[in-house]
Amino acid sequence: MAFPEGFIQELKARNDITEVVSGYVSLRRRGRNMVGLCPFHGEKTPSFNVYTEDDHFYCFGCGAGGDVISFIMRIENLDYVDAVKLLAQRAGLELPENTYDDSMSKLRKRIFEANREAARFYYKSLYEPVGREGLDYLHGRMLSDRTIRHFGLGFADDDWSSLTSHLKSLGFSERELTAANLAVPRRSGNGVYDRFTNRVMFPIIDVRGNVIAFGGRIMTDQKPKYLNTSDTPVFKKSENLFSLNNAKNSGSRTLLLCEGYMDVIAVSQAGFSNAVATLGTALTGSQALLMKRYADEVIICYDADEAGQKATARAIPILRSAGLPVRVLNIPNGKDPDEFIRSQGADGPEAFKRIVERSGNDIDYQLQKLRSDYNLEASDGKVAYLEAAAKLISSLSSAIEQDVYASKLCKEFGVDKVAFRSQMQRQIKRRSRERYKKEQQQARAQLSGRGDRLDTDRSKVPRSSSAEEALLAYLLRSPDSAEHIAREISPEQFQNALMRRYYQYFLSRIQDGKDALNNLSADFSAEEAARVYQILNKHSGVALTKRSLEEIIKVIREESVKLKREDVGGMSAEELNAYLLKKRNTKN
Ligand code: CTP
Ligand code: MN
Repeated sequence: MAFPEGFIQELKARNDITEVVSGYVSLRRRGRNMVGLCPFHGEKTPSFNVYTEDDHFYCFGCGAGGDVISFIMRIENLDYVDAVKLLAQRAGLELPENTYDDSMSKLRKRIFEANREAARFYYKSLYEPVGREGLDYLHGRMLSDRTIRHFGLGFADDDWSSLTSHLKSLGFSERELTAANLAVPRRSGNGVYDRFTNRVMFPIIDVRGNVIAFGGRIMTDQKPKYLNTSDTPVFKKSENLFSLNNAKNSGSRTLLLCEGYMDVIAVSQAGFSNAVATLGTALTGSQALLMKRYADEVIICYDADEAGQKATARAIPILRSAGLPVRVLNIPNGKDPDEFIRSQGADGPEAFKRIVERSGNDIDYQLQKLRSDYNLEASDGKVAYLEAAAKLISSLSSAIEQDVYASKLCKEFGVDKVAFRSQMQRQIKRRSRERYKKEQQQARAQLSGRGDRLDTDRSKVPRSSSAEEALLAYLLRSPDSAEHIAREISPEQFQNALMRRYYQYFLSRIQDGKDALNNLSADFSAEEAARVYQILNKHSGVALTKRSLEEIIKVIREESVKLKREDVGGMSAEELNAYLLKKRNTKN
């Protein structure tokens, strides 16, 4: 079941793709397209294109592409039905009834509801006798009742069925509770039990205010210290941030990136509501891009211990390549933000403010760290340090930035700027050689289709795959020729399974008088739909001539009869028939 085609057409007509995308990406006109920085991968020069005339977007950097529905699916992290609902609402369109399968959308809604009720239940328990231990624990960590309420913290008691029975009494099914990862099936296969017991609970809330997951901390030294909701239909650890719901309303375009729940909460209690944390994993590119939507700058506030410093070094390039300038907080005495604030007693908030204000940018931080690796008293140590520094500075993409740091260092060490610059140039050349080599490798891999998980046939049958792609592009750009093309090439002649699926699909749509691409994001996965736009873009400059079509057809035919003789022996009757048909087709 899907939405009626006419409805989808209307929906797209009423949601102008340029307008919708502009809500998320700042676009400017370039020729007939609009361009901007891609929201799906980090970049500094725009390769994200919106084609106003034929209603799609395509990024030359990462290959993301699709129509307005696929754009909303990706950027809002919604499934197809929910993306359509959002766009319908945006355009004031009534949804057709009972025509579409929204079971996934319904399940997600139930999970949000169950999570919300669970958060209520955990919060309430905290202030009941059963939650005494939890409340004492949080108070012991210097959290006020106001902070506890603000974050909706709670308590899961040590009975293995309290939450489950409560939610069942509210009408939630075991299937829903398991899907939400609030309950876990018993090994016996009989019933379910609570996922979280004997922990203080931290609800994780998304930017739309939905409770999407929980983190739970044990109150002793037992392990694991924190237990988090596993990935569910509404939650992916690597794509969300704790407390972004608060930070986005903080009125600040700077985010404080912390390591843990307690750091965010302590920092917030100290007056900084713009703090977020990753959820027990290293920072990912999607999290950086998510931050980029709400911030112009990030201050890394990781623990001052060795692990924290390693994580800082890893996070800097990820944030930078998402286009976010970075500063790094320097916390004295190896503490984490929470411990630091507490250690300062009543002066905690002021002391924290001071170190935030003093935080230097990432280059200063990295130069400072480098310094401790070399003995600057000795000449050779100095030389080695300056060489390493030149390498670091040469990696900056802004020439102005490069110049500022180069000047500063040269002055400090009394070295000739010309010499330093030429050292930097050497590094830049070397890096661009390396990048060139890597790009070549990638291009070769892409050409041969190696490592293409979506289209595994491409590397096995490269020649027919290329020709089949070209035929698809021709067909989509010139639907009028569908009848002729269908007569010349049957789907069975396609060697590449993915291309064959596209071919059958598009042919039948065009033959039914439908717009070929209208329903693409409903009928294919996001990746498969994006691949179609990739193919279209690759061929957009190729002229649609009779000769080029003939050439494509010729190659597909040649390849389709390349079946080896011995294969014929092992064929079933049907396969043999198809094979003979192919042969016949190619003769005329
Ligand atoms: N974490 C996790 N699972 C663990 C340990 C840690 O998911 N077993 C995540 C949590 O999000 C935690 C963060 O990693 O907040 C940082 O861990 P850590 O530095 O060990 O804890 P703190 O944040 O300092 O926690 P606390 O102050 O409560 O000890
Ligand atoms: Mn801590």
